[in-house]
Amino acid sequence: MGRTQKLWQGRFAETPDEDAVAFETSIFVDRRLALDDIAGSIAHVEMLGNTGVIPEGDGARIIEALGAIRDDLESGALQVDGTSEDIHSFIENELTARIGDAGKKLHTGRSRNDQIALDERLYLRRTIPALQGKIITLMETLTAIAGNHRFTLMPGYTHLQRAQPVTLAHHLCAWAEMLRRDWERLGDARSRMNLSPLGSGALAASSLPLDREETARRLGFGGVTANSLDAVADRDYCIETLSALALTMTHLSRFCEEVVLWSTEEFGFIALSERWSTGSSIMPQKKNPDFAELIRGRTGRVYGSLVALLTVMKGLPLSYNRDMQEDKQSLFDACDIVSDCLTVFAAMIGSAAWRVDRMRAACSGGFGNATDLAEYLVRRGMPFREAHGVAAGIVRLCIEKNCPIEDLPLGDLRAASPLIEGDVYDKLRPESCVEARDLPGGPAPRRTEEHIAALRDFCARSRQGGS
Ligand code: ARG
Repeated sequence: MGRTQKLWQGRFAETPDEDAVAFETSIFVDRRLALDDIAGSIAHVEMLGNTGVIPEGDGARIIEALGAIRDDLESGALQVDGTSEDIHSFIENELTARIGDAGKKLHTGRSRNDQIALDERLYLRRTIPALQGKIITLMETLTAIAGNHRFTLMPGYTHLQRAQPVTLAHHLCAWAEMLRRDWERLGDARSRMNLSPLGSGALAASSLPLDREETARRLGFGGVTANSLDAVADRDYCIETLSALALTMTHLSRFCEEVVLWSTEEFGFIALSERWSTGSSIMPQKKNPDFAELIRGRTGRVYGSLVALLTVMKGLPLSYNRDMQEDKQSLFDACDIVSDCLTVFAAMIGSAAWRVDRMRAACSGGFGNATDLAEYLVRRGMPFREAHGVAAGIVRLCIEKNCPIEDLPLGDLRAASPLIEGDVYDKLRPESCVEARDLPGGPAPRRTEEHIAALRDFCARSRQGGS
């Protein structure tokens, strides 16, 4: 079979130009779907044989040959090359070359339109759990670090200004919590796409007595899609996955921004391991956080994939349009990037050293206990707005005197409010401030311990296949 010849070229007297074929070919992108395509074809042919749409003997021969093609692809004995336009025609060509006429029955009652919708769902069904597994690995890494740092004080920030003291554990668990939702979003996307489009044909199903439920069952789907036009026309399952991945990258990218900041001499909260740092070609002293920067940078490519696919889809009338072929590059690129970034981030953060002395030192000096002073007054009966004013006045005085609140003599404090007594100094220590924030979700070590336990439990359940 010549390079430009297609299985379904019969309507045309002319063969397409080389350039035309090169332009429309997608095989170098969609060849990654080869095994999914074969799995779908085997289920389809089993159903065709069972329903009597094709003779059972032909069905058995096709299935055997498809199995052999799969084995040869897996062993490398067969390579997907550019002789076919896409992976569907490559497999069909190969099948027909191997078993002749029986192979021509494979495509009975099927279109590449329902076939590609199937292949993508099968691909995502297996790829999403792999990505989720990497999210879990990262969550496990973070909770392991958090477990060692429930009492490690650090400033919490708003506007990147020191705000109130928290703990490193509390901070890391915030990221882990975001990752948990990323895991769930991917799972949601996966469960919504778990319906078989096979039997939708090109757009309007088939007049042949196909058993859609059987192919769905054989392929492990929860059911069949409800409308043939919809089934071949939408790529929302790709877009949902991409948006979940884009959000995962948002989280990783923000965390990377912190790693970059924290590894500066100015912050000095984290020391990345030399294995996950880079040097400079000119400045001998440099130790750069390039991996964090690369993850932050690759986030743009994942967003790009999401926007690319949204844009591909936005103007398409029903049902299938060839524009949709452009979905796979974006989808695969995003899956690959997120997979790599999760692995690299977990290794980078897991091997870093935490400079707890620097974090503790940063807790004093920024008036991070001013809110605690106001709440101290509230506990003694002062309305909060008034207490806020008193604490603000004390902060002003401290700025004048160039000292932290806890260094002011009691006389100065009592001049601001006679409700203040000697016990205030203990309440103003960062340890006490953190300990006192003992609400669900708060930074008190007791609460963080509960949160770490819940996150670990989530990870363990997801490892066992639950959620
Ligand atoms: N390669 C195509 C895609 O990814 C497969 C479907 C082609 N269908 C068609 N009618 N040309 O969408």
